Amino acid sequence: MFTIIIKENTQEMAVAAFEVLREVLDKKPNAVLGLATGSSPIGLYRKMIEDHKQTGRSYKDVVTFNLDEYVHIERNHPQSYYTFMKEHLFDHIDIDLANVHIPNGNAADFDIEVKRYEDELNKFHVDLQVMGIGSNGHIGFNEPGTPFTALTHVEALKESTRNDNARFFASIDDVPTHAVTMGIASIMKAKKILLLASTSYKAKAIAAMIHGPITENCPASILANHPDVVVIVDKAAASLIADEKY
Ligand code: GLP
Repeated sequence: MFTIIIKENTQEMAVAAFEVLREVLDKKPNAVLGLATGSSPIGLYRKMIEDHKQTGRSYKDVVTFNLDEYVHIERNHPQSYYTFMKEHLFDHIDIDLANVHIPNGNAADFDIEVKRYEDELNKFHVDLQVMGIGSNGHIGFNEPGTPFTALTHVEALKESTRNDNARFFASIDDVPTHAVTMGIASIMKAKKILLLASTSYKAKAIAAMIHGPITENCPASILANHPDVVVIVDKAAASLIADEKY
């Protein structure tokens, strides 16, 4: 079930997103958080840091699981999702890095790595999964066509996704071709999901997710079957959502 919140801009989106997170953390200081990379959650991470500095809220008992990581990328590579999380969040709060889980993009054996990650995830129950959405409707790195039953696996990235992410690399040739990602079935186990999207570039994906049909061609459309999904969008990303529905 979707709860849709439409905001004027990304600053207001971040405030609303932090409200959702705060409710979870107030009830459970040792919450299990699913985290994401990309530009969409950055405002929320800023709010978390701000709140940590101002109120002293502690993250030392929080456990985190990131959605995905590029394959064949060193952990300390500037564009690894590990580096992204350190720079945008972990280095600025008191999280215990022992409680942080991010797939190993440099594993010697990815069959072992995907099983290890899913097994680790299954020892916990994610209270809140934060995520963005790809312009083609992908969630995590589950590209169109990925079975809804998928668990953590290695995904070949679509050219459109590689193009979208090329802005972070020196050239398109440097963008990894594969990623380890939590599967759609792994994501659906979260108790609550918070999906953030802004700009008109995401409008089609948001409309396809909300209006359906539920199809593997739009991975995010499966979220209609989840009991608690909060979608926070700006007006541009919401521009193709039919008004009469919300
Ligand atoms: C990447 C990530 C996704 C993210 C998407 C959108 O592909 N793997 O998890 O949702 O980018 O990114 P952005 O928020 O920068 O638009």
